[in-house]
Amino acid sequence: MSTVTIPEAATKKDLGYKSFEAGGFRFSRDEYFAHITYPKGTHIIPIEAFLRAMMRDVAWGFFYGTVNFDNVLGTINHYGTVEMFAGLKNSAYVEAGLDYVETFDSKVLRKVFEDILADWTNEGFDPFAAPEETGKATGPRHGENLAAIQRQRVVAKRMVGLPGDVGYRTDGNGYPLNRQLNDVPTDAPEIHAEPGFEGEVHAFNLFNYVARSDVTWNPSVVSAVKDSLLCPTTEEFILPVFHGNDRVEWFVQFTDEIIWDVEDGKTGRPRAKVVMKAGDVAAMPADIRHKGYSPKRSILLVWENNDGSLPDRYSRGELKPFPVDF
Ligand code: PHB
Ligand code: FE
Repeated sequence: MSTVTIPEAATKKDLGYKSFEAGGFRFSRDEYFAHITYPKGTHIIPIEAFLRAMMRDVAWGFFYGTVNFDNVLGTINHYGTVEMFAGLKNSAYVEAGLDYVETFDSKVLRKVFEDILADWTNEGFDPFAAPEETGKATGPRHGENLAAIQRQRVVAKRMVGLPGDVGYRTDGNGYPLNRQLNDVPTDAPEIHAEPGFEGEVHAFNLFNYVARSDVTWNPSVVSAVKDSLLCPTTEEFILPVFHGNDRVEWFVQFTDEIIWDVEDGKTGRPRAKVVMKAGDVAAMPADIRHKGYSPKRSILLVWENNDGSLPDRYSRGELKPFPVDF
């Protein structure tokens, strides 16, 4: 095995950034790139893409299944522990014996990722924001943006707007309509409950809520009914990760259009291009990975099944990877 060193460009002048280690992985950055070394190789990712991906992995607590930063680096959530890998979901790396994987306690790896984000996110750069709505990630270290990277993910216990649950977004509390979604209806629904049921019926205007999101590619739970989680999100530019599902998830395109690249989850072989226009519904299978492109800010509903027994049942083949036979 050859000795792996960090490229000179990343180390020869002091740009003010710290380097970080997690097991055999080492992370360092220069003005434009994140450099990742691991016992079998080195890898490089443009810094803005890296921070956007890292932000999602941290905010989502490693999400469902696999979060691929790109076609080499990623994490696999085992819900308590997490694997970090290089090349594991890339058939060329695996065939060459260059894949590498290590298991971590989720809390431990999360802390390293949070520290990387805090140190490498410069003042003015918001890894959750659309490119048109943020400053740059590049250059020597300058300032920080802790307010942006420590946002709490919105997770309703039952439903947005219920007493004691997540509140509404308004102009007054700092959430104006997004510049590209300022034509959605904002009126509140009328609720006509039967006498005696007034406390058991609730409704709110989802468009008026989601169109006020200040982040992109960040599904947030607006209602939870047992394991059924409705997670709408506003999308602009590129989903920063290739999400490798460990269960089926459903997409409903509420406005505008998203183009999805769908690849085999294990090998990365291309499988499909899916163009979703407003009103389209798709089920993303449990054995793929996907990345979306949204040319204009759009609203997507992601419908997740939070049943913890699913990953095992899909991986054993008890359940088919798709939900419908035609
Ligand atoms: C997904 O991987 O299914 C996903 C993630 C973030 C989004 C939308 C979809 O904003
Ligand atoms: Fe997904």
